[in-house]
Amino acid sequence: MRNIGLGAGVFAFSPILSACSGEKFITKGDFKVSLPIPDEINAASFSLSATKATTDISKDIRLSGFKINKSFPSPTIRKSKGDSVEISFKNGMGQESIIHWHGFIIPPDMDGHPRDVVPSGQNYEYKYTLNQRAGTYWYHPHPDKLTGEQVYKGMAGFYIIEDEEEKALNLPSGKFEIPLLIQDRRVNGSGEIVYNPSRPEKMMTGILGDQILINGAPTPYHEVESSVYRLRLLNGSNARIYNLAFNDNTPYTVIGADGGLLPSAVETKELLLAPGERVDILVDFSKFANKNAKLISKTFEIPSSGGMMGNMMGSGGSEQGTGFSLMEFRIDKSTIGAPFSIPEKLSESNFPTRSEASKTRQIHLSMQMMQGHTINGKRFSMNRVDEQVRQGDTEIWEFVNETNQPHPMHVHAVQFKVLERSGNRGLKPTEKGWKDTVLVMPDERVQVIMKFTSEKGLYVFHCHNLEHEDNGMMANFEVV
Ligand code: C2O
Ligand code: CU
Ligand code: CU
Repeated sequence: MRNIGLGAGVFAFSPILSACSGEKFITKGDFKVSLPIPDEINAASFSLSATKATTDISKDIRLSGFKINKSFPSPTIRKSKGDSVEISFKNGMGQESIIHWHGFIIPPDMDGHPRDVVPSGQNYEYKYTLNQRAGTYWYHPHPDKLTGEQVYKGMAGFYIIEDEEEKALNLPSGKFEIPLLIQDRRVNGSGEIVYNPSRPEKMMTGILGDQILINGAPTPYHEVESSVYRLRLLNGSNARIYNLAFNDNTPYTVIGADGGLLPSAVETKELLLAPGERVDILVDFSKFANKNAKLISKTFEIPSSGGMMGNMMGSGGSEQGTGFSLMEFRIDKSTIGAPFSIPEKLSESNFPTRSEASKTRQIHLSMQMMQGHTINGKRFSMNRVDEQVRQGDTEIWEFVNETNQPHPMHVHAVQFKVLERSGNRGLKPTEKGWKDTVLVMPDERVQVIMKFTSEKGLYVFHCHNLEHEDNGMMANFEVV
C-alpha cells in the first residue's frame, strides 16, 4: 500500500531507553474528553487580543491565566507562502508582553524581540510577508523573564504555512490533518493549574508537571478512520521532553520537522521532541492491531544528568524522562480510507555545506551557582550585542553543553541544518530536515550550519526550556 522506511537506518537515533520492562506510565487522565481542535484564522489582517481569563480544563481542573481571542489554546493561524499579513497584538493581560513567531525569518522589529514588549493596554502592530517554506510553525509571547509564565498560562498557538510544493504531494488534509499541541501542567490540590516553579526547577530542570494537556484537554481521545492521518505535533511545554511512540510500538513516518518537509520520509518507532520542536508525521491507523491506539511518551534517560538530583531536590513534578500517556486514538475499523503512498521525494532542500561556512562559533551553555543559566558565561542583557554575524554569511555554531541538564537551543530568524552530535548518538529523524530548535543533551556538543539571510538588526537565540530562558540563558545576535 505504501513504501515507507526510506533511509531509516542512516538516521538510527537511539535515545538510550530504559524501555522494555517495568515502564512506569503515569496515566493521569483517562481519555474521557474529546480532543478539541483550535479555531483557524485565515484572514490577511486580524487581531490577536490577549486577556486574563479562567478556563475550565475539565470538571476538576481550572486554569487562571490568559487567552488569545477568548481561546485556549490560542487560535491556529493558517497561511500560504508569499502571503502578507497584518496582525494587531492587543495586550490586555495586566502585564507586559510581545508575540514572537517561532521559526520565521522576518525583520527584527517584527520578530518579537523582548525589547519590543508593550505594556498592558497597548498594541503592537505587525506587518510582514511570509517567505517561509511550508511547515508547522507556532507563536507565543516573548517578554524577558515572563515568557515561561505566559506560555504556561495559556498563550501558544500553531502557525501553519502551506506552499505549492507541499500541496502537490496531496498529503492527508481536512479532518485527516490534526495539529496536536502537547503540554504538561501541574495541578494543585484544589484543581488549579498554577505557575509555581520550585527553586530547583528554576535553577535546574524547569517546571515539570504530570498532567498532560493536548490542545488544552487532559489526555483526550479522538476518533479516527482506519486510514492515513497527518499529525502535526508541537511540544509547547516549558521544560518537558517527550519520547513519542505508540503504546504497541507501531511505527510511524516522519515527514517534516521545524522548518517543513524533510527531503524524504523516515520511519521510526520513537522520537524525542523537546520544548519548541515540531514534528510532522503520517500515521496509518489501518496498521494497528488494536482499536485503541495510545500516543505515549516512552520512558527515557537523560545521559549523565541529574534525574536523581532533580528528584532529591523535590522538583514537585515527575522527573524528566518519566513515561506518559498522551492521548488515545479510537480507530473505526469499518471505515477504510483511501490508500496513500508516500512519494520518494518530499521536498527540495539545499542545505548549506561545511565548505560554505565562513566560521565556526562555539556557544557554551553553563550554569553558575549565583548566576543562573548562562551562554558563553553571561546571562541575558537586553541591549548587549553578544554575537555579530554578517548578512548572507553561512556559519557553523557548535553548542557545547557544560551542564547536567538538556537544553533545546533555538535561534531566531534562521532555519538551520544539524551537522553532527558528539558521542555516537547520531541525528534524530527530524534532523534530516530544516530545524530552528535543537536538543543538546548534557555533556554533548552539537553542530548546526545556517545562513543568515534575514534583515539586519538584533535578534535573540536562547534555550527553549522557558525557565532557563527566563533565568538568563538567552543572548542577542546582530546581523550586520
Ligand atoms: Cu519559541 Cu525565542 O522562541
Ligand atoms: Cu523563535
Ligand atoms: Cu536550557
